[in-house]
Amino acid sequence: MMECSWKTILLLVCASLGIQYTAIRSLTASINSRCPGTEPGKHCHSQWRGVSSCSGMTGPQANDQTPTRKHILIFATTRSGSSFLGQLFNQHPAIFYLYEPLYHVQQVFANSSTRVRNTLDRRALLGAHRDLLSNLYDCNLNFLENYMKPAPRDHETTAFFRRGASNALCEPPLCHWDRGSKEVIEYLCARRCRALNLTLASQVCRAHPHVAIKTVRIPEIKDIRLLSDDPRLDLKIIHLVRDPRGILASRMGTFTENFRAWKIWNATGRKPHSVDLSQIATTCNDLLNSAGTGLSRPPWLRGKYMLVRYEELAREPFKKTAEIYHFIGLDVDSQVKRWILHNTRATSGSTRNYKYTTTRNSSATAENWRLNLSFQIVQTVQQLCNDTLNQLGYQLVQSLKDLRNLSNSLVEPKIFAPFL
Ligand SMILES: *[C@@H]1O[C@H](CO)[C@@H](O)[C@H](O)[C@H]1NC(C)=O
Ligand SMILES: *[C@@H]1O[C@H](CO)[C@@H](O)[C@H](O)[C@H]1NC(C)=O
Ligand SMILES: *[C@@H]1O[C@H](CO)[C@@H](O)[C@H](O)[C@H]1NC(C)=O
Ligand SMILES: *[C@@H]1O[C@H](CO)[C@@H](O)[C@H](O)[C@H]1NC(C)=O
Ligand SMILES: *[C@@H]1O[C@H](CO)[C@@H](O)[C@H](O)[C@H]1NC(C)=O
Ligand SMILES: *[C@@H]1O[C@H](CO)[C@@H](O)[C@H](O)[C@H]1NC(C)=O
Ligand SMILES: *[C@@H]1O[C@H](CO)[C@@H](O)[C@H](O)[C@H]1NC(C)=O
Repeated sequence: MMECSWKTILLLVCASLGIQYTAIRSLTASINSRCPGTEPGKHCHSQWRGVSSCSGMTGPQANDQTPTRKHILIFATTRSGSSFLGQLFNQHPAIFYLYEPLYHVQQVFANSSTRVRNTLDRRALLGAHRDLLSNLYDCNLNFLENYMKPAPRDHETTAFFRRGASNALCEPPLCHWDRGSKEVIEYLCARRCRALNLTLASQVCRAHPHVAIKTVRIPEIKDIRLLSDDPRLDLKIIHLVRDPRGILASRMGTFTENFRAWKIWNATGRKPHSVDLSQIATTCNDLLNSAGTGLSRPPWLRGKYMLVRYEELAREPFKKTAEIYHFIGLDVDSQVKRWILHNTRATSGSTRNYKYTTTRNSSATAENWRLNLSFQIVQTVQQLCNDTLNQLGYQLVQSLKDLRNLSNSLVEPKIFAPFL
């Protein structure tokens, strides 16, 4: 066990040294990553252009003036609708989208003892997260290799987390297979594509004008201040929030193992001693602190911060998507619109039993937790999360009747203007 611990520390030290080296080296690099002169690079560049001219994309980057590369960060927490929001970027042909790459950093520490985890304090782990994000925005996907298990060979890996959630990683030149339809289907991509060549994936990334990354693994907005301070990044943080009562209901339905005690409480009306209230209290605290930071409009977030409530996105996806893209400074591509049309109209019967599916009647599901939680649990969350609910504009309910009556939305009409 000792040996394993030291290996972990050594790995982290090596990783962070490597990251720092590249960070310094890439200081000299231009912010506007261009398609490299190599064959695969050219191939993917022209591929992107082909797509863009077909879909009639407009905007500054379409006519080869100095493109401003956008670095979009979906900042969220688990089960708050981030897969849905992520798709709004994944479907845009000019955006290279990564779904939770920080998973790999966490994976390294998953089996280490608490002693090691305390040694590597919070700052070091957050530093590793932040440095990796910085390199990924620079399209250096090879920086993921240090964290991957099993370690990639010749820069090729079959262990890329949720590869199928990134369209670009499932399409030529990274994957050649007959999908039979235009849409990438996640589990089929993971099954049918051969090992992912991270060097080639980096080139594909560079050939895309913009990069978007989703993460649920950074506790607070202030933890990424160094990213937003980096003058080479045109960072756009979309802070996705959701009613914590809805987050809890969704986690109970998804992470059944970790939320077993809550489920017993919900089903029997008797609270087991093993219920861990911190599972939702911590989330509320992080939400409160992050929104508090963002809404207080510190200079370092100027032009970089927008808060989005998932319930509003689900209720009016076209309107909210337009607002988000406007804030970022890009046009909503027709493929994005088509995806919204297709995925917010599906009837509940067509929903596959797949944890992270976004194909469903989104307006119907955002507040459906109200039919799914006992009043006692709702009251407990309301006490734990009172300040968060107030700040984000979610109404408390005082009775079971109010809870179940869906004709009164609990989402107050509160406007969270982007910080321009
Ligand atoms: C952690 O340890 C368990 C049991 O020893 C093992 O099955 C699992 O693969 C390990 N996970 C990682 C990420 O190494
Ligand atoms: C991965 O892609 C790079 C860049 O296209 C290429 O040079 C390399 O040979 C590829 N590696 C393998 C193992 O195919
Ligand atoms: C309600 O709870 C059940 C059981 O945990 C779960 O399968 C279902 O997805 C939940 N529905 C909603 C809308 O949260
Ligand atoms: C989606 O859900 C809403 C609210 O329940 C309902 O009004 C609407 O008809 C549903 N749409 C479809 C296509 O099922
Ligand atoms: C809570 O219990 C109700 C009724 O027993 C059940 O319908 C619902 O699915 C449960 N919710 C969760 C999240 O398990
Ligand atoms: C929640 O906060 C509001 C305003 O901050 C306060 O009036 C109310 O009494 C609090 N409720 C609970 C249950 O703590
Ligand atoms: C639900 O709320 C609406 C609006 O306040 C009210 O008209 C309706 O009677 C309520 N339904 C029930 C079953 O209480």
